[in-house]
Amino acid sequence: MPKPRIAVIGAGLMGHGIAQVFAVAGHDVAMTDNHGPTLASARDRILANLKDLGDDAAALERIRVCASLAETVAEADFIVEAVREDLAVKQGLFVDIERAARGDAILASNTSVIPITAIMGGLKQRERALGTHWWNPPYLVPLVEVIGTEWTAPQAIEWTMALHADAGKQPAHVKKDVPGFIGNRLQHALWREAVSLVERGICDAETVDTVIKAAFGRRLAVLGPLENADLVGTDLTLAIHKTVLPDIESRPGPSPYLEKLVADGKLGFKSGEGFRKWSPEQRAALRTRVLQHLKTARTRGD
Ligand SMILES: NC(=O)c1ccc[n+]([C@@H]2O[C@H](COP(=O)([O-])OP(=O)(O)OC[C@H]3O[C@@H](n4cnc5c(N)ncnc54)[C@H](O)[C@@H]3O)[C@@H](O)[C@H]2O)c1
Repeated sequence: MPKPRIAVIGAGLMGHGIAQVFAVAGHDVAMTDNHGPTLASARDRILANLKDLGDDAAALERIRVCASLAETVAEADFIVEAVREDLAVKQGLFVDIERAARGDAILASNTSVIPITAIMGGLKQRERALGTHWWNPPYLVPLVEVIGTEWTAPQAIEWTMALHADAGKQPAHVKKDVPGFIGNRLQHALWREAVSLVERGICDAETVDTVIKAAFGRRLAVLGPLENADLVGTDLTLAIHKTVLPDIESRPGPSPYLEKLVADGKLGFKSGEGFRKWSPEQRAALRTRVLQHLKTARTRGD
């Protein structure tokens, strides 16, 4: 049976990587972007990734770049958008996609945190719309969260989970469409306390990161928090929560410390300073370190 045909809208950081994963898995992929230079460079960026990873460069032959949205989606069985994180842009795009796509195609958004219900609410056939949240870089991080809304047909979820598993990804079903899904909720719960520790003067930013990386971060890839709770005992976990949770940051909004960094133009790598100062060499070294770590994990088959 031929593999489902894939359409990817948005050929930026995530889109070109998603297209690459499906092409390596043997799918024909059509891809578009409304920014000419990004579309023009997409195949070269994918080829560079394939060479870097030692993957078969023949996968590139299965990727077609298209100038128009209509041409990109016309024949697709599965359409995923990875355009910028802007609700109005995504809402408008899906109205256009629905108009141009086949009636039986599955429509997916790769939004990081926006509820799928908000993005897909204006569609006529909402039962075929869902979220597929990938992690960067798509060809190195295994997980894809598959998010259904109250309208999504169970068959659409099942089909999409199988599609991603067949493509070598590790799909996880998110049963309720909450902001941030599972991964970003967990990640940003940790980040909220990390910012708070610095804000309260308990330690500096570098120390927060060192404590995570040199302690429980070492175990996290092989020991999830609920496995860990069972391992040490739910009774011990309860005792710890009784002491620690009342003091942990629980403000509902962003930290004023973070708001001030942004207001002061301290945007991180973009401006050379955020929580810490970053020289160009330090920025390059951190990027290389992360990529190398993820590549090693992939080689080991983690
Ligand atoms: N960067 C990440 O780590 C990450 C991880 C998971 C999910 N996401 C999500 O994936 C999506 C894309 O993120 P990214 O980091 O790849 O952004 P990006 O800026 O690298 O790429 C977005 C691309 O979409 C194109 N685009 C914008 N509007 C378009 C339109 N109407 N039609 C066609 N193309 C259009 C832009 O030209 C750009 O090339 C966002 O929703 C983001 O939240 C990002």
